Amino acid sequence: MVALAYLVSAICFVLSLGGLASPSSARRGNTLGIAGMAVAVVATVYLAFSTGSASKESLTAAAISLIAGGAIGAVLAKRVAMTAMPELVAILHSFVGIAAAFVGIAGFLAHPPGELDGARIVHLIECYLGVIIGSLTFTGSLVAFGKLKELIKSKALVFPMRHGLNLALALGTVAVGAWFVTGQGAIALYVGAALFGVLGVLLVMGIGGADMPVVVSMLNSYSGWAASATGFLLGNDLLIIVGALVGSSGAILSYIMCKAMNRSFVSVILGGFGAEVGGPDDRAEAFAAKGVNRAGPADVAELMLGARSVIMVPGYGMAVAQAQHNVRELTELLQKKGINVRFAIHPVAGRLPGHMNVLLAEANVPYPIVFEMDEINSEMPDTDVVLVLGANDIVNPDALENPKSPLAGMPVLEVWRAQTVVAIKRSLNPGFAGIDNPLYYKDNTLMLFGDARKMVEALVSAVKGGGGH
Ligand code: TAP
Repeated sequence: MVALAYLVSAICFVLSLGGLASPSSARRGNTLGIAGMAVAVVATVYLAFSTGSASKESLTAAAISLIAGGAIGAVLAKRVAMTAMPELVAILHSFVGIAAAFVGIAGFLAHPPGELDGARIVHLIECYLGVIIGSLTFTGSLVAFGKLKELIKSKALVFPMRHGLNLALALGTVAVGAWFVTGQGAIALYVGAALFGVLGVLLVMGIGGADMPVVVSMLNSYSGWAASATGFLLGNDLLIIVGALVGSSGAILSYIMCKAMNRSFVSVILGGFGAEVGGPDDRAEAFAAKGVNRAGPADVAELMLGARSVIMVPGYGMAVAQAQHNVRELTELLQKKGINVRFAIHPVAGRLPGHMNVLLAEANVPYPIVFEMDEINSEMPDTDVVLVLGANDIVNPDALENPKSPLAGMPVLEVWRAQTVVAIKRSLNPGFAGIDNPLYYKDNTLMLFGDARKMVEALVSAVKGGGGH
């Protein structure tokens, strides 16, 4: 019965991942994931009861933890703002990490040292892997949480010999692992956990703001492998399968994002690569002297009403301002006037993969007018107006034109190739990567300063009024 339940649950998880691949089927994917997890929890509790492998006290403790943990999780998920989702995901990964480490330690302490035969060696290696991967996931996720919540500076921590130090920590952990397996002492297990924990901190500290999305999905992957290691230790097939699903899907997502940002996977994992090329922007004075072209909502409305085609580029600022519903209203008004309106989505726009797609779907923007970066970049030169809605790094021309930029090589939406670009944001402050954006100083760029929602509301009224002053 339990084996069958685990199989059903595993199938639900696979179908859930499939569903999450597209915004239109994501809800179904989520429901399947919830169903799979419910079946898994019930089957596991039943297993513990029916085999008598857990005492009454431990089952009571598990039930209390389950209810308390579930309640805290439900409140957190209900309250979290969409923009704070990556932080929540990062802190949840840290829980998976610490849980895996504790299970590894418990698994070791439950069996007193004995004769070092093959089975015992495998058991010790399982314990050690669970503990060290869990520890690295725990500390790395805490640092990622701190960076995303802006408790820690998002800039990469770069210091001499950091790669040497990281390598020494990794080799040290392997050596301590050998000491643990041969000596079977708990101290070695804790030393290994501490070394890999420090490595987790250094690796994520060494990764700059622009690479953070990859880090979050990479930690997602690590948390999956940690869970899988725990599954081996506990002899629980479902945990092995689920861990492997999370581990591999997280790794694939990291790879896709690396490709989208033109980063090499290895350099992101090792951290700090490419950070050296940053440095102060020596064009700041020239930019300040040139100034920007400002526009008001009435000017922009008139410009759009005179356009044949408009491309909207949503970014993090649209999410913060929750302007997606107003943007949909503006889109419909323009479409009624016969203007071709489309959306251009950068793979890392916002703060989590698919962030913009989710917001646009929530506002009922039809999928057929929403295009991925690769599909729409070539259309920019034939576009009359591009409206940049609180996006910054993803439309930075430096990524293509300035090899010294930390964004160098990252594919971006080439909005400056359009006839006119209108950028809505509140100031000239930089975006997540913390660097200046020359787009705002280009001759064909107009700045519409203000909160994205208020400005789009103003554009809607101006378009309804027919534009003009
Ligand atoms: P950003 O580069 O972060 O720029 C967002 C801009 O929105 C800011 O410059 C800000 O300028 C503006 N803004 C903030 N609140 C606003 C409001 N209420 N109204 C109007 N504008 C507002 O965003 P992006 O272009 O979407 O790029 C995403 C960045 O986040 C990339 O660097 C990416 O690597 C990183 N990141 C992405 C992810 C994923 S997976 N998507 C995860 C973590 C990090 P003002 O302050 O002047 O208004």
